[in-house]
Amino acid sequence: MRTKLLFNDGWLYTPKDANTNRPDQDFEAVTLPHANILLPHHNFDNAEYQFVSTYRKRFTLPEARNGRRVYIDFEGAMIASTVYLNGHLLGEYEGGFTPFSFDLTDYLHETGENLLTVKLDSTERPDIPPYGRVVDYLTFGGIYRDVYLRYVEPVHIANDVFIYTEGDLSDQPAVRIDFTVKNQSESHAERKVSVWFNGEPCDLQQNTFQVQAGSDQSINLQFAPPLSETLRRWTLDDPYMYTIEIKLLDGETEVDRKQKQFGFREAQFRDNGFYLNGEKLQLRGLNRHQTYPYIGAAAPRRLQEKDADIIKYELGCNIVRTSHYPQSPHFLRRCDEIGLLVFEEIPGWQFIGDEDWQGISLRDVEAMIVRDRNHPSIVLWGVRINESLDNTAFYTRTNELAHKLDPTRQTGGVRFWLHSEFLEDVYTFNDFSNNVQDPTHTPHLICEFNGHMYPTKIWDQEERAVEHAIRHARIQNLATAHPQVSGAIGWCAFDYNTHREFGSGDHICYHGVSDIFRLPKFAAYAYESQIDPAVRPVLRAATYWTMGDRSEGGIDPLVIFSNCDEIEMFTGDTLVDRYQPDREQFPHLEHPPFSIKGLQLLWGQHKFEDLRLVGYMGGEAVIEQQIAGDGMPASLYLAADDDTLDADGADMTRLVFKIVDKFGNRLPYTNQVVSFEIEGPAELIGENPFAIMGGQAALYVKAGHEAGAVTIRATTPRLETAEVSLTIR
Ligand code: GAL
Repeated sequence: MRTKLLFNDGWLYTPKDANTNRPDQDFEAVTLPHANILLPHHNFDNAEYQFVSTYRKRFTLPEARNGRRVYIDFEGAMIASTVYLNGHLLGEYEGGFTPFSFDLTDYLHETGENLLTVKLDSTERPDIPPYGRVVDYLTFGGIYRDVYLRYVEPVHIANDVFIYTEGDLSDQPAVRIDFTVKNQSESHAERKVSVWFNGEPCDLQQNTFQVQAGSDQSINLQFAPPLSETLRRWTLDDPYMYTIEIKLLDGETEVDRKQKQFGFREAQFRDNGFYLNGEKLQLRGLNRHQTYPYIGAAAPRRLQEKDADIIKYELGCNIVRTSHYPQSPHFLRRCDEIGLLVFEEIPGWQFIGDEDWQGISLRDVEAMIVRDRNHPSIVLWGVRINESLDNTAFYTRTNELAHKLDPTRQTGGVRFWLHSEFLEDVYTFNDFSNNVQDPTHTPHLICEFNGHMYPTKIWDQEERAVEHAIRHARIQNLATAHPQVSGAIGWCAFDYNTHREFGSGDHICYHGVSDIFRLPKFAAYAYESQIDPAVRPVLRAATYWTMGDRSEGGIDPLVIFSNCDEIEMFTGDTLVDRYQPDREQFPHLEHPPFSIKGLQLLWGQHKFEDLRLVGYMGGEAVIEQQIAGDGMPASLYLAADDDTLDADGADMTRLVFKIVDKFGNRLPYTNQVVSFEIEGPAELIGENPFAIMGGQAALYVKAGHEAGAVTIRATTPRLETAEVSLTIR
C-alpha cells in the first residue's frame, strides 16, 4: 500500500554551496517551509537572498520498503534544485513555483542512514521563468513549501488523477476520472479498479486493466455518481466538496488507494459576463503575491489559509488572481473550502525567453494544470506570461496544452493593451486607464487596475488614502455597469517587497488595499463594504477625524464605507444628521459608500468632539463606530490571529500590534518603538524592537517542537504593557 509522510522536519541547512565533506556542525537544524534568509520587512537588497545554499537530511527509512518504490515530493523550492541521494545525482529541477519529485529507490539504503542533499540555487537565473529581465516581485529563496516521502507499490496510481464532471446543472451529472497506472515492475500486471463516491461504490463499465511492464497505462472512467440525496453543487456560500476514492486491486488485495476532493459546478465566462452554476456573478477581486514580510515565501499552511480567509471574509472578494505564478496548495485548498474563486497563472512577467525558456514555461503550464485541475475554486488558467507581447507560436502551444490537459476550463492570458492577438477563451486585460475601457474582445475580464497609478502607504495623508479607496470603488462601480465586463480584479491585495526598479524608496510596492502585514488601508474598506449585510454589517469611516490633515483643511467629504442603508452621525452627543449611500456617484455598486458633504462648518462648532456613526439596516441600528476627537494614543493593542499552534517546528501565526485611540482606531502618524518579550516554547519572527510607522504592524509567532504555554509582552513608551497568551500543542 501507499504511505505518504510529511518530510519537513529534521533538515540541516547552510547558506553556502557545501560539498559532502562539510561536517554537519557547519549546518543549522531547520524545519520546512524554510526561507534561506530572514530579512527585515523592508530596506533590504534583493541580492541578500540570491545565493546557492545547501540542504541536507539524514534519515533512516521511517517504514520498511517491502518492495515498494520510494519517492520524494517537493511542493516548491526557489528557484533551481539539484538533488542527490547518498552521493548519486538524481537530477535538477528548474523552476520555483511548481512541484517536482524524484524516485529515490535505486540508491536507497534499506537499513541504516541515507543522506539527501539539495543544492538550491536561489539566484535570478535568466534561463528560468520569470527571469531573463527584472520583474516586479521577489522570488525569495528556500525550500519554501512542504516536502513528502511517498511509498508506492511498483504498480501504482500516478499523481495525475483528474476528476471532472459533465452536466453539472442537471440532476444526473456524470463523473469522469482520468489517471495513469504506472508499472515500474518488470512484469506485466493485471489490476482491478474500484471507485467510491462519498463512501458509496460506483458502477464502472470496465474495471480490469492490463499494464505492460515498465509502462504507463492511462485509464478513463465515466459513471453516474451514486447520489443518495439531491446533488449539492459547489457554490460560494456552500462550497460543498465530494470525495472520490480510487482503489487499485491485485486480485482481491488492495494495493493502492488515492483520495481526492472535487465539486460539481459550472463556471463560464460568456460574452456578457461570468456565470457560476448558470447564474451571473459580478467578479470582484484582488491580486495576491505569495510573499510575506521577514519570511519571504516560506509561509506554513496556517498563514496560507489565513490569506484566503482575509481575501474572502475581510475584503469581501469573490475571486483572487494568483499573480504571477501557481501558489501554495494550502492556499488553493482553502479557496475550495471557503468558496473563493481563483484565476491561476504560469510564472513570468513581461518577458519571453528563448526556445529552452519557453520549454520550461510549457512544462509549467502542464505542472500547474495537472497539480490543480481538481480545485473547484479555479475557474480560469492564465497561459500567457503576464503582460508579455504577442507570440503566436508560443501561445498557440500554451493554449493547446491547457485545453488538452483540462477540457473543462477556459484559458486567459494577461495583456495590457486592447488589441493584442486573442488566442485564449477569455480576454484578460490589465486596465490602468483609471477608467473601464470598452472591450475589443469578449468574454472580457479586468485582471488589474490602480496599482502603480496610485501607490498609497498606511501613513499617507488622509486625502490620498481616501482617493486610493475611491479609485477602487469607482472602477468596481464602472466594471459592474459594463455589460461586457465580467468583473475587475484590482492591483492588489497586499503591499509587497520588490526590486528597486518598481518599489518605493524602501523597495516595497505600496499597491495593496492592505499593507504588507495584511492590515487594512481605507481601500480595503471599499471591498469589505460590499459584503452581504446578511453575513455581517460593515461600517468604516475613511477619516482620521482631524481638522488639519487634508489640503485646505477639514474632512469634506467624509467618506464612509458601509453596507448599511442609512447612517446617523453624532459629534459628542449631538445628532448631526442621517445619511443615505451615494447612489449618484456609485449607482452600480450594491453598497455605495456614503459621501457626507458640508461638514466644514460643523467642525467649527463641534471641534474635538468624538465622532459616532451608527449604521441602520431596515430601520434598526446594527453597527457603530466611534473615533476619538482628541487623537491621542490611548493604548497598545496586541493580538495573535490564533490562540493555538502546532508544535511542528514550522507553524506560525500573525501577531498584530497597533497604537490606537480610546475607541481602538489606529493612529496613522504614530512613529514609536514597540519592544517584545516572549516566554515559552516559541519564537518571534520579525524586527524586535519594531519602529512602528502608520500605527500598525505585525510579527509572527513561530512554534518550536515543544508543547506549552507562551506569553508575549509588548511595551512602548507612555502606554500600558500589552500581553497575549497562546498554547503550543
Ligand atoms: C502591472 C503588473 C503587475 C504590477 C502592477 C503594478 O503592470 O502586471 O505585476 O507590477 O503593474 O501596478
